Amino acid sequence: MAFSRVAGWESGMVFIISVLERASGRRLAGTNGALQNVVNTLIRLAVVTCLLICCKAAPAQESASGGVRGSSSSRASLSDPATEQKIEALLRKMTLEEKVGQLAQYSAGQPTGPGSGPTGFDDMLVKGEIGALYNLTSVHQINVYQRIAVEKSRLHIPLVYGLDVIHGYRTEFPIPLGLAATWDPEIVQRAARVAAREASSVGIRWAFSPMVDIARDARWGRMAEGAGEDPFLGAEMAQAFVRGYQGEHLNAPDSIAACLKHYVGYGAAEAGRDYNSVEISEHTLREFYLVPFHAGVEAGSATIMTAFNSLNGVPASANAFTIRQVLRKEWGFRGIVDSDWTSIAELIPHGIANDPAAAARRAFLAGVEMDMVSNFYHLHMAELVRSGQVPEKMLDDAVRDILRVKFALGLFEHPYVDEKLEAATMLQPESVTLSRTAAERSFVLLKNSPAGNGRPLLPLPGDSKSVALIGPLADDAAVMLGSWSAQGRPEDVVTLRAALVQKLGSESVHYAKGSEVIGGTDELLTAAVSEAQNADVTILALGENAAEMTGEAASRAHLGLPGRQEQLLEAITGTGKPVILVLFSGRPLTLPWAFEHVSSVLAAWFPGVQAGPALVRTIFGDSNPTGKLPVTWPRAVGQEPLYYNALNTGRPAGKVDLTKPPFDVASKYVSRYIDEQNSPQFPFGHGLSYTSFRYGTPQASAGKLSAASLNGGMHVANRPANGELTVSADITNTSDRAGEETAQLYIRLEGTSTAQPIRALKGFQHVKLAAGETKRVTFQIGPNAFAIWDDQNKYVVEPARVKIWISPDSVQGTETTLEITK
Ligand code: NOJ
Repeated sequence: MAFSRVAGWESGMVFIISVLERASGRRLAGTNGALQNVVNTLIRLAVVTCLLICCKAAPAQESASGGVRGSSSSRASLSDPATEQKIEALLRKMTLEEKVGQLAQYSAGQPTGPGSGPTGFDDMLVKGEIGALYNLTSVHQINVYQRIAVEKSRLHIPLVYGLDVIHGYRTEFPIPLGLAATWDPEIVQRAARVAAREASSVGIRWAFSPMVDIARDARWGRMAEGAGEDPFLGAEMAQAFVRGYQGEHLNAPDSIAACLKHYVGYGAAEAGRDYNSVEISEHTLREFYLVPFHAGVEAGSATIMTAFNSLNGVPASANAFTIRQVLRKEWGFRGIVDSDWTSIAELIPHGIANDPAAAARRAFLAGVEMDMVSNFYHLHMAELVRSGQVPEKMLDDAVRDILRVKFALGLFEHPYVDEKLEAATMLQPESVTLSRTAAERSFVLLKNSPAGNGRPLLPLPGDSKSVALIGPLADDAAVMLGSWSAQGRPEDVVTLRAALVQKLGSESVHYAKGSEVIGGTDELLTAAVSEAQNADVTILALGENAAEMTGEAASRAHLGLPGRQEQLLEAITGTGKPVILVLFSGRPLTLPWAFEHVSSVLAAWFPGVQAGPALVRTIFGDSNPTGKLPVTWPRAVGQEPLYYNALNTGRPAGKVDLTKPPFDVASKYVSRYIDEQNSPQFPFGHGLSYTSFRYGTPQASAGKLSAASLNGGMHVANRPANGELTVSADITNTSDRAGEETAQLYIRLEGTSTAQPIRALKGFQHVKLAAGETKRVTFQIGPNAFAIWDDQNKYVVEPARVKIWISPDSVQGTETTLEITK
């Protein structure tokens, strides 16, 4: 299937026409004019029928996007026969306007984007003109609107309330990038469960999360909201979030619908500039960008949100290929396709619609069912249906999908919330403890070199008597909450300063702000240097301002420390006293000077309500760091986009010394920069701990596999863990303290019809090792790990030479090889 560059209805036409052409084995272009008209009309009818049938009823294809592991699907809860009957019965009673009403979604609280739809919803609710509201957090108001919808509208259809519950509702967890750095889907699932319990206690039953956009470019501020650059890790995180939000049963009162976003390609914004255009080949789309979405669909996500960006010239919110072909037909998705905030209206500035009705028609025919804020469906859909420009059957299907989710959530039976629940649900002690554990597991120890005494500086002794705590983020509660913290409140946060004082006593902690995040004064700086000079060690808390510098609409062209923080860093380090740098950020920061001169650096992201206690436990060794980078950490902005699973190119730099400018033919004509190394500051998967580990050479259970047998295995429904191959390696704890390592399994395929990444993650395991202990880790590898999207965009295992590593990150390790024969 060629990647269609045509938008909306036409794209569906192109797709179906090409199918019809191929089926009949002839080209329609050769027919004469009159006949062509008849043929066109017939095809139009066939297209409508086909789109209606194929796009709704097609079973999920077996063609997984690759590497997706064990999904516990809650898809069944979206579609049981009894519910389908209820949906049909309700649909039969609905007027055209009431159907259109279900497609309308408005923000009723703090806006999370520009412009706004209508306000003053009471009258619209009575008329059944609203399907969903969001951005409301007052349980009382939620019940008030719900009562109007349920008791005063003709058909008593409840509203579904949504919110951007991104990494917690009131109990804030680390930002999603930090959660991904745990490489721990179980803890992410538990965090999402806490968020679901808290959000549902005020009547919010729909989280606009998880964001599963692959992000390869740290300039893009929304890297903070996702799981980073890797499709395998991203798929694991996507499923963990979906399972956590949706629970065992979507109709449990504390379950909320997940929303995979932003479908698709949003993270590949050109130059890392938010909302910018995106070009991704169908091959790359399928091998990387679609994978976490497919995994989330497999896990049963009830909804998906289309993105702002154009994708190969067709805006994602009017893209029939990605929505109707891939999502509906290939994956069998049966939930709601929601637009992003005014992304339907944005089809006009994109340039594919000249007026609101045309935008509504394009988005809807491409498969976008709910209109977030634009108000275009509300204003134009009924007329589009009446005039035959949108088939009513298609509208019915969209309404079915929306009602299906509302039934699945149990909203018809239980539309209201007990207003006393909220107080009893928020910030439960076990939720707060979980947040602290998640934060501890999210920290990535980037560097921990020997300091003056020949030992790594971290962990600090628990009886430290004189610690300088310096930096604008040492005591900033709001920043710890990250850029998008729902109902998170600064007063719920324990800062690093508060936790350090609690640990050591105020007489041992010498705090100075040093600078603002942006800005500062000479006086602040001088006072901080003097504190550092008088202390035994300095903890320096630097980084970004979460709300302004990370998240949506926060792309950066410079990735250093903002304001005067770099100056502060150099002044404090210049004292010669040992320095621990704690970096708070929503992305990797390019700080070559710091990584050269500061002996210990901890990436803390934005850790949530337990930032301080988690950091103090880590700094003093009560918690041993286990986090690993979910993104490649660049040396310089000019390297971006920089990601580990890149292609080798025809002129890889190989053994050329890239620390020097090219000096001869061999060192010049390779894929390189003349003024910077190709390698990152820290590779994907990197993360140290207070324990050291040694990896043995991996051993495979077979030297040869057959592509035919692997291809057969891929299409076995409900297959077990399906180990076609096992690969094992010994890991030894070479230190004198217990620790936990995340062992990573990578493969490289050579000799295939499409070039494959130099390494691709296919598994990971957490291994706990006592001091001196050796354990063998074993990975069961199934056919999907070897499947690729070939030169015809088919998902298949091809004969290949395979290299396999079990390693602590994406660059180290010894490889073992095997062969996939025909
Ligand atoms: C726009 C953002 O792109 C999206 O992630 C969010 O869910 C919506 N606004 C709603 O707030």
